[in-house]
Amino acid sequence: METFTIYNPTCLHFGRNIITQLPAVMENYGKRVLLVCGKNSVKSNGIYQQVMEQLNLAHAKVFEYSGIKSNPVIGDVDAAAKLGRDNKVDVVIAVGGGSVIDSAKIMALAIPLPNKAWDLFDNKVKPIHSLPLIAVLTLAATGTEMNAFAVVQNDQTKQKPGYYSPLIFPKHSFLDPQYTLTVPANYTAYGIVDLIAHALEGYFGAGETTLTDKFIFSIIKEAVEYGPLLMDDLHNYSYREKIMFAATCALNGTTAFGKKSGDWGVHGLGHALSVLYDVPHGASLSIAYPAWMKHFKESLEPSLLLMGSNIFGVTSANETIHCFEKFFEQIGSPTKLHQVGLSSSVNEKELNALIENLNINKVNGNHYKMTDEDFRQILTNAY
Ligand code: NZQ
Ligand code: ZN
Repeated sequence: METFTIYNPTCLHFGRNIITQLPAVMENYGKRVLLVCGKNSVKSNGIYQQVMEQLNLAHAKVFEYSGIKSNPVIGDVDAAAKLGRDNKVDVVIAVGGGSVIDSAKIMALAIPLPNKAWDLFDNKVKPIHSLPLIAVLTLAATGTEMNAFAVVQNDQTKQKPGYYSPLIFPKHSFLDPQYTLTVPANYTAYGIVDLIAHALEGYFGAGETTLTDKFIFSIIKEAVEYGPLLMDDLHNYSYREKIMFAATCALNGTTAFGKKSGDWGVHGLGHALSVLYDVPHGASLSIAYPAWMKHFKESLEPSLLLMGSNIFGVTSANETIHCFEKFFEQIGSPTKLHQVGLSSSVNEKELNALIENLNINKVNGNHYKMTDEDFRQILTNAY
């Protein structure tokens, strides 16, 4: 094991009708609220009204920024930060999935600064303060509700970097599995893929902790067991709650304890697909992960074997990869590029654009390094 420090200050509130705890929490953070939402789901499914009811009970003055898109963009972060700055808000409340919460994390950092928000990603400014952030999660996937990462896209430069700062841990996160009952089948599946991918990125990183590996296998097993049941019964609270808890645990630090690093190369591959072709995050990962595993199969053999025997009861690396690929197909997430609108056979123009973008984004795994030739072969595996 490596030496390690565990720090996670997010206070997580989980369960049915948990939003009723919001007014008490609000007492610590002031009354002027920047409320951040996505396009329209929270208004059509009633979550917005429920949150507003609690904010009214807390006598909050609300300034709203709605319209954050999936694969969020920096222009929205700047516009919302301006709204918050102009109205001297005390606290940011995000109601949505990863895109909304990630955007709100950067707003919370940007509001006290004179800079454009992208200066944070360019390391032109080092924040020393952030507004408190409260997250109300409506989609189980990213783990952003209990971590210090935010991923935002710049459509001009075609970058999709992750930003890390301990200042952006949400102070409180509210997770009511009922809020995820309306997530459609496709995004439910992408969320299941994303949580598995987070566990895998931890597993394939550098360093070894046997207990952490067992945590990882348990998280993946939970998703493999309950994911298909949920896909067959999208309105089942019990399955929604299991997947929601698993997604939080997959990226709140649990899968990193005692390890030197995660790998994260596959996430980089996925982000290139999102920034160039607007592929949903989880869909990009169900395409990239099997292709990456096939490419690095020899080096990954012992790890694949150990994981495959624990999770699927199989006895070879090939079977482990096959099981993941079949699982992603079973829950309805794509495993090939043509399923997300790219060509149905190897296409040099697309390959070169993707490789160029991977270089712009300086994508590489922390553990399994990739050259342009590796990128080419991995992407070829995905056609
Ligand atoms: O925009 P609205 O109308 O709200 O619709 C959203 C969106 O279309 C919809 N949705 C959300 N909750 C819903 C719902 N529809 C019905 N009922 C509900 N309760 O779902 C769609 C997708 O939402 P989005 O927030 O984009 O999904 P997700 O939570 O998967 O977030 C993806 C983003 O998070 C980043 C990804 O790169 C991507 O940009 N990630 C963030 C990470 C982090 N901060 O730790 C780690 C991840 O690896 C990932 O990179
Ligand atoms: Zn992810």
